[in-house]
Order: sequence, then C-alpha cells, then structure tokens
Amino acid sequence: MAKRTIVALPGDGIGAIVLKQAIRVLDAAGFDAEYIYGDIGWEFWKKEGNPLPGRTLDLIRKYRTALFGAITSKPNEEARAELNPSLQGKGFTYSSPIVGLRQYFNLDICIRPCRSYIGNPLNFIRRGPGGIIEEPYIDVVIFRQNTECLYSGVEWTNPPADVYKAFLSHPGFQKNFSDVPVEELSISARIFTRKATERILFAAFDYARKNGYKSVTVCEKPNVVRETSGLMWKLAKDMQKNEFPGIKLLNTNIDAQMMWLTKNPEDYGVIVAGNMFGDIASDGFAGLIGGLGFACSAQFSSDGVAVFEPTHGSAPKYADYEIPIVNPVAMTESCCMMLDYLDEKQIAASVRKAIAEVIGEGKVKTYDMLKMKGRPEVVNEGAASTVQMTDAIISKLRI
Ligand code: NAI
Ligand code: MG
Repeated sequence: MAKRTIVALPGDGIGAIVLKQAIRVLDAAGFDAEYIYGDIGWEFWKKEGNPLPGRTLDLIRKYRTALFGAITSKPNEEARAELNPSLQGKGFTYSSPIVGLRQYFNLDICIRPCRSYIGNPLNFIRRGPGGIIEEPYIDVVIFRQNTECLYSGVEWTNPPADVYKAFLSHPGFQKNFSDVPVEELSISARIFTRKATERILFAAFDYARKNGYKSVTVCEKPNVVRETSGLMWKLAKDMQKNEFPGIKLLNTNIDAQMMWLTKNPEDYGVIVAGNMFGDIASDGFAGLIGGLGFACSAQFSSDGVAVFEPTHGSAPKYADYEIPIVNPVAMTESCCMMLDYLDEKQIAASVRKAIAEVIGEGKVKTYDMLKMKGRPEVVNEGAASTVQMTDAIISKLRI
C-alpha cells in the first residue's frame, strides 16, 4: 500500500494537463503515494449544476491533502447558457469552485513564493548605474489571506431595503451616494476579521523567522482603506512588538508596491496582504520570475487541510492542443510545496534541483521561455512541449 493518499483535482483546461505531468515527476522522484481523482470544474457545472460536487468535498475531508490544477470560471449569463437544458431555469447559480473550496475548508492561509531561477530567460532585468543591465535575484514569499476581503462574496446589486438602510446610516454613504437610485448601486463588502488577519500575519512572521528573512512587509493601503487595511497594519505592529521583535516590519501601499517591485524587488522578502491585494502583489512578483508558468502556491486551513495549486488558470485557448505546450513548472513547484508540507523535504529538494538544472542549462524551454506566442506550431519551432519539459526535469532527478 502506498504511504500516502493524495486527492488529485485536475479541473479544466490546462489544469488537467499540468497535473498529469507533475504527478509523473512525483512518481519518478520516488514519492510513494496513490492519487484519488476528484471531480471539480466546468464539466460538473454543465452536467450537475454544481462545479464542486459534495463527493469531492468528502474526498478532501477524508484525505486532507489535495493537488489542484485549475478551473474555468465564466460570468453568470454564460454559465447559465451552458448548463444542461434539463437543469436550466431551476435556480442554479454558478460560483467559482476554487473560491468555494477555499471557503468550505477555510483554507485561509495562502503562500505564494516567487523566486528567480538562475538562467531563466524570462527573469526581470533593469538598467543600473552607467546603463549596465542588472538581473536582481528575487526571493519573495507572499502570504495572502485567502477567504475574506472582497472575495467573501458578500455583495449586492440593487441591495435589499434593510441593507440599503444600513448603508444610509453611514455619514460617508449618506453624503456621497444617497442621491443614487438604489437599483443603480453595486456594493461589494471588504470584510476583514481579527482572527483571520492575525492568522495570516502570524503565518508570515513565523515563516520569516524560520527561514531567515529579515523583514515582513504589510502590503495594504491603511492610509485610505482605514478600517480593513488599518486593522491589518495595527495587528501587525502589535504582533511584531510582542512576538517577533527580531523581524523588521515594513509597510507599503499596494499601488506603490506595484511601482517598487520593478525598481527594487530584491529588497522584499516576506510580504503579507489581504485577499485582493495579495492576489495582485503575487501576480506582480510572479511576472518578475517568468510569469504564470512559474508561479506556485499552497493553501492551508487551521485543521489540517492543504491544497496545492499553480496560480495560473485553465488557459482554455491552450487546452485542446494535440501536443500540449504549456509550462509544467508552476504545477510541479506546487507539488514541491506539498512535499515540504508532508515532510518529504529530500524529494522536494531533488525535484527543485532538477527544475533548476533544466532551466539553468537552457537547452529545454517551453514556448513562454522562448517568448513565443502560444500556437500549436511552437513545438516545431524549437519550443519544448509540456511532456518534453517534464521529461527533461525527470532526466535530471538524482534519487
Ligand atoms: P490563465 O492563467 O488561465 O491564462 C493567462 C495566460 O497566462 C495564458 O493565456 C498564457 O499565456 C499564460 N499561462 C497560464 N498558465 C501558463 C502555463 N502553465 N504555461 C505557460 N503560459 C501560461 O488566466 P485567464 O486566461 O485569465 O483565465 C482563463 C480561465 O482560468 C478563466 O476561466 C479564469 O476564470 C480561470 N482561472 C482559474 C484560476 C484557478 O483555477 N485558480 C486562476 C485564474 C484564472
Ligand atoms: Mg490571481
């Protein structure tokens, strides 16, 4: 019997493609596991009116650790139109199954590391003094609160009377919006709770201390978004003072951070933010290390459920190629985060080393690394396919 059972959630589009290849790497690296496949995504929305069936939740509840590829999300109207005709008009509404999964299991801690690979032709470069080209080494780990903020789903268009009345009781709303017809109002609530904010802050500080990072940067906007960003900043100051005096606490506003990250990305280490700004900051930093083909993530609940996924989506335009071309590194790196979590650190290290060697050698590159536009022909024009890139990684494994 295999040592571990992992729930594999391929999802849609390229999610299924990269997950299959990443599991090949795990097998080749000697990770002793069996994979139980779970249903999630568009197909199940169309067939069952539910992109996240209860049986999938049961599997995750039972086995606790899951690998997730990606799903496709579409706006409500399109979603309704694609629903199986027998289900139409029966009140089914689509909502993103990955957001649903995060909320259902309270996967509130999301970690997104962005580290340069030496030799990656997509690494960020800039001009330094005297016009020399500099390629700063980036080693940033973003801690994103994963369940609250603008993603909590508490929102209205044409809010009901009691909600509208509550808003009217706020002087700012009264002053600026009370003359707007209620049916022309759309409101999305930005909710932060003390408990979840403390949990993501603690996770960030703790990671910084255990992994030798000197600072934690809170990336919010407390000067304007005074209540929610303000809460995070205040709790961060208290926590630093009381529990992590050896770690420097820095504060950047999300807009300024987007500018600073192309000026001095090497100055940042651990960054912590709410859901929306964490999402933005992590895509920003991912762009500096090669983009979505390289960006991995891990998500944890407080009671031992963990889901690992690349930060990219299902890239439907590349989903049906006879020879898949997308980069398997982001998914494979997400698997390395899983291996670390499961205390298979040696296997994780050997997979990471293999990826680094392939990239460092520069002989095998997927289309994104060659700065090509994604087309089926790229594999005849020098780009490695998804499978060839995976083969190259496997060939470098020393186990
Ligand atoms: P996307 O991440 O799927 O693709 C954007 C672009 O990034 C692609 O066109 C491609 O150029 C590049 N890219 C992504 N993954 C790559 C890889 N492994 N290798 C090389 N290049 C890669 O985002 P998009 O197009 O905005 O969304 C497509 C669908 O995915 C939508 O339905 C969206 O809702 C969904 N989505 C799902 C996510 C998830 O499952 N966690 C996250 C983001 C989007
Ligand atoms: Mg994102």
